[in-house]
Amino acid sequence: MELHALSLDDQYNKLIDGLYQNGYCVLDDFISTDTCAGILSELQKEQTEGSFHKAGVGKDAEHKIVHTIRGDYIKWLETDEAHPHTNLYLAKLQELRQVLNRQCFLGLQDIEVHMTQYPAHSGYHRHVDAFHKDDNRCISVVLYLNFDWLESYNGRLILYPDVTPAAPIEIYPKAGRLTLFESTLEHEVIPATQKRYSITGWMLREKRFF
Ligand code: OGA
Ligand code: MN
Repeated sequence: MELHALSLDDQYNKLIDGLYQNGYCVLDDFISTDTCAGILSELQKEQTEGSFHKAGVGKDAEHKIVHTIRGDYIKWLETDEAHPHTNLYLAKLQELRQVLNRQCFLGLQDIEVHMTQYPAHSGYHRHVDAFHKDDNRCISVVLYLNFDWLESYNGRLILYPDVTPAAPIEIYPKAGRLTLFESTLEHEVIPATQKRYSITGWMLREKRFF
C-alpha cells in the first residue's frame, strides 16, 4: 500500500493542468513500485532475448542511425504482447488518452510506445519528437523504471519550455515517475553513469496503419 498516492482522477487532473498551463507535467508514483519492477523485468527479458535494436533519428526515407545524436536501444510494443505488467501501463495510457480527448477535445486516435534502454554514458541531443513534415505526434510520455536512482548518476531529461523567460526543467529518471510534454517542446537526455531504463510513448492525432 502506497501512502499519499493520488486517486486516478487526481492524477489525470494534475497531468492535464500541467500540460495546459506549462506544456509539460511530471508526476511521481504514476505506476506502483510492484508494477514498475514487473515492467523492468519484462523489458530486461526482451533485451536478453535480443529483441532490442539501436534507435535511429528521422522517419521513413529520412531515418538514420547516428550514435553521436542518440544512444538508446529500443523495442517497439504492440498491445497483444505477453507482458502483463507493461500491458497494465499501456491500458492506463489509453485511459489517459481518452480523458484528454473528453476534457481537452484533443481527438487523439492512437498511441505508439517502445521499451528503451540507454547504455551508460549515452544520451540524446536536444531535439523535438514531432517529425519534420509530420505532426502526428502530439504528446510525448515517458515512464521511468530506475530504482534507487541517485542524482549523482545524472541521466536527467531537460525540457526547454516555450515560455519567456525560459527556464529549463530538469527531471531525474526515477522509477514510477511519468513525464508528459507537448511533442513540439525541445528537450534532451543527458548521459548517465548507469544504464537508464524507460517506456517511451506518444499520443497520436491519427491512427497508425501497421
Ligand atoms: C525520446 C526522449 C526522453 C527521456 O525518446 O525521444 O526524448 O527522458 N526521451 O528518456
Ligand atoms: Mn524525445
